[in-house]
This record gives sequence, structure tokens and C-alpha cells, in this order.
Amino acid sequence: MSSDTHSQEHWATRIGLILAMAGNAVGLGNFLRFPVQAAQNGGGTFMIPYFVSFLLLGIPLMWMEWTIGRFGGTKGHGSLPGMFDALVDREKPWAKYLGVLGLIIPLIIFIYYTYVVSWMLGFSVFSITGDYFGFADIGQMRDFLYNFQNIFEASPALGGVPALALLFFLVTLLFLGWVLSRGISGGIEKLALIGVPMLFLFAIVLMVRVLTLPEAAATPSQGLNFIWDPNWSSLSQPSVWLAAAGQVFFTLSLGAGHVHAYASYLDAKDDITLTGLSTAATNEFAEIVLGGTIAITAAVVFFGVQGAVGIAEGGTYDLGIVAMAVVFQGLPGPEIWGQIFGFFWFFLLFVGGVTSCVALATPSMAFLQEEFDWERKKASYSIMAVAFTLGLAHVVFYQFGFMNEWDYWAGTFGLVALATIEVFLFVYIFGLDRGWDWMHKGADLQVPEIYKPVMKYVTPAFLAVILLWWGGTQAIDVLLMQDVADPENLPYRWASRITILGIAAGACYLIKKAWDRRQ
Ligand code: PHE
Repeated sequence: MSSDTHSQEHWATRIGLILAMAGNAVGLGNFLRFPVQAAQNGGGTFMIPYFVSFLLLGIPLMWMEWTIGRFGGTKGHGSLPGMFDALVDREKPWAKYLGVLGLIIPLIIFIYYTYVVSWMLGFSVFSITGDYFGFADIGQMRDFLYNFQNIFEASPALGGVPALALLFFLVTLLFLGWVLSRGISGGIEKLALIGVPMLFLFAIVLMVRVLTLPEAAATPSQGLNFIWDPNWSSLSQPSVWLAAAGQVFFTLSLGAGHVHAYASYLDAKDDITLTGLSTAATNEFAEIVLGGTIAITAAVVFFGVQGAVGIAEGGTYDLGIVAMAVVFQGLPGPEIWGQIFGFFWFFLLFVGGVTSCVALATPSMAFLQEEFDWERKKASYSIMAVAFTLGLAHVVFYQFGFMNEWDYWAGTFGLVALATIEVFLFVYIFGLDRGWDWMHKGADLQVPEIYKPVMKYVTPAFLAVILLWWGGTQAIDVLLMQDVADPENLPYRWASRITILGIAAGACYLIKKAWDRRQ
């Protein structure tokens, strides 16, 4: 049953695979999250813990996830419950339940991430129509954004429905459903072949525009100095190291389960070591060169260093949406140029987002097709229907922190937790030597032997330190919600957490049903 469905689908070309995996990794994290993290955590010196994390955590985990994915694929599995089951051998019934994380983390992220990505579609349209032109300072532009998200008209009991935001959410989901219903090579790969080069083109054009801006509150080189100026004392702060490790996880999409899903559509004799490295390098170019230049530099030129600090502290969307929308209104030349550059920016974020969204939905797609023999179309539109229904809670309760709870458990903590589990299974249960062999089947690049001890000791130790640090400094506060500033938000936060548990319980039930069916 399962292996038939799975072996029908494959990546058609290597370039398609590289672009799809790059599209999987490149997203809002590269252009919005990275510059804020770098600016807040020591500027240029942030790159030291960042590269250490990249080499000791990011690269080894990426190779392991590709290997687990391809191994699972050869056994007929495109999602983690089946992959973990195959990895430990079928006598151990618990493995598939550990794999539930690889099903629900991507699904949970999919739902709220798609909502955020749909804002980018909204702002692409507003750029073309010039809707936000005239909201010319940060305060006014923030009002425009909040209005779109319907943060103002919230009645305390029910948030109220922002009709336009809901419409863009629906359109984005329908588009994703359509792409997914066309399959791996017919849908996802085609989207990546068109979308990823376009994204890079738009980003390079924007980078050149930003670097050649005339002096306003500051010059572009002062902007680059601001983000890259080294602050050596930051290296002794554990929080900076944690931020760097977290960013590496997020940007490479590690510890979620959808990298495995993509890798499961590889052939047993396809290279993964070099291809994996190429996609990681593509992601780092988008992150450091493009992401590290565009938004922060533009903000410093327009608002000065002090202004940019304030904006970066306001968070990801204050920089990426609010500040950038003000910047586009202030570009030299006729207004139409501002509208065009605005469209480039928001549409590149939208494209970066949707190429990650299709990846996030892939484990659920594979699970429904393989374990329950669902048609592709039925699976894809059903997932969109579930996402729309659960996503409504994010649309309506956004201002009460409903999304923060999902983002914390799935998008931050969950990634580290799942990565810890998979390293342990791969190195100590499947066995590192066996894993190493699987990793090198068809390999175009022999990985240096030094990565054996890294995978065996350093990566797990690194993860253990992160988890222990979390346990010691944050666990209690977070679990008891003592970190929630506004007590009015507490009921929404708890409701949000309970939905996560509900999704987990539902997924465990489906796994049980699927395995019962096989008997
Ligand atoms: N890697 C993507 C980015 O940089 C986002 C992402 C992270 C998606 C984790 C899913 C899981 O934006």
C-alpha cells in the first residue's frame, strides 16, 4: 500500500530539487528575522556564534535529515511516523508516536505561517494600488497595518473579523492547495523553478537600490556599519549563542519534519551530501548577503541609527512591513518607483513564504496519501480546509497572542526537541556507521571524517546544552505563563495551547488507525 503511492512521485531534475529545497529554507526568516537577530545580538560578532552553530548544528542536522528522509522514502514513507518506525525497526511501537512531532510541527507552523505570508500578498497588492501611500510616517503606517490585522476594533470577547486579511488568507490557501494537488514534480518543483529565481532577482534589485540610496538621516554605509559593527563583549553572553543557534534552526527549516519529506522523494542513488550543501549555501547567500543588507540598511538611511534601533526592537513586522512601507514612500523619483519597489519587496517575501508553505504541508500530504490511500487532490484541499478552520482563530484572536503560543511551541521549542530526538535515533539506535553509509549512497562529496565525532558527540551535546539552559531559565515561567505581560490575554493563550494539544492527540489517533489498518 504505502510504498506504491510513494514510489510514484519523484523530483524531476536536480536543479528543481535544489531550488525546491532552497525555497523550503528561504523565507521570512532570511529577510525579516535574521537582520533583527543580528542587530540585537552583537552585530558583526553575531556571525561568530552563527557560523559555529551553522557548522556544528546546522550542517550535520541537515545531512541527517536528508538521510533519514531518503531512507524513509525507500521504505515507502514520506512522513516521520513511518520514517522513525523504519529507522528503529518495526518491533518498537513507540517510534511512530515520536514521529508524530514531524507531522504536527510542520502542520502547526503551516497554519500560522501561511496567515502571515498572506499579509505579504496583501501588501504586494497595496503597493501596486498605492493603498498605503500617504501613511508617511512610522506611526501612521503602523495604524494602517493594525487596521489591516484588525487590532483596533477588537471587542474584548471576540476579536472581530478583518475581512480583507481573511480574503488574502483564503486566496493564499487556495493557491497552495492547487500547487500541492499537482504533486511533487508537477506542482512544487515547478513553483520553485519559477519562484526562487524571481525571488533572488527581486532581492538583488532591491539590494542595489538600497545601497545606492542618497544620504537621508544616514548613509547606506552607516547602515551596513550598524548591522555589521562587531561588539566583542556579546560573545560571552549565553543568550547571544542561543539566538544564533535558534536562527540557524529556523532559517534552515531544521527539526520540523518537512526537509525529511522532501528528501523522501529522492532516489536511493541520488547524491545528498553535495546537493544538501548547495541548498544550505543558497540559503546563506539569501540570508547574509541579501537579508543582511536590505531592510536594516534602508531603515538606518531613512530613520538614522537611533530610529532603526527603535524599529528593530518593535519586532519583525515593524521593520519588514511598517518601516519598509514608509521607506518606499520616500524613495527618490516619481511615486510609481516606490510602488514598484514596494511590490518587489512584499512579493519576494510572499514567494519566499509560499515556497516554504508547500514544504510544510508535504508531510501531511504524504501521510494521508500513503496511510489512508487518499487522492492527492482530496488530501491537499482537505489540509487547506483544516488550515482555514484552525487559522480563523489566528485571524480573529491575533491581538491576544494566540499566534505567539503556536510559534513558541512549534516554531521554537518544538524544533529543538525534535532535532534532539532524531539525532539520538540516528546516531545511537540506527547507528552512526550505518547512517554514514546511507548518507554516502550516490554521494558526489565525501564528507570529512571529522563529522563523525561531530554528529556523535558535538551536535547532541550542543542540543543538550540548549535544552538544559531552557529548562533552567525559562521552562517554569513559560509553562505557567508567567511571562505573559497582559493578564487579559491569558484565556486566549491557554485556549491556544489546548488546540495544540488537541492537534497532537488527533494526530496520534490517526497514526494508531493507520497502523491498525496495516494489520
Ligand atoms: N526556513 C523558513 C524561513 O527562513 C521558515 C521556516 C522555519 C519554515 C521553520 C518552517 C519551519 O523563513
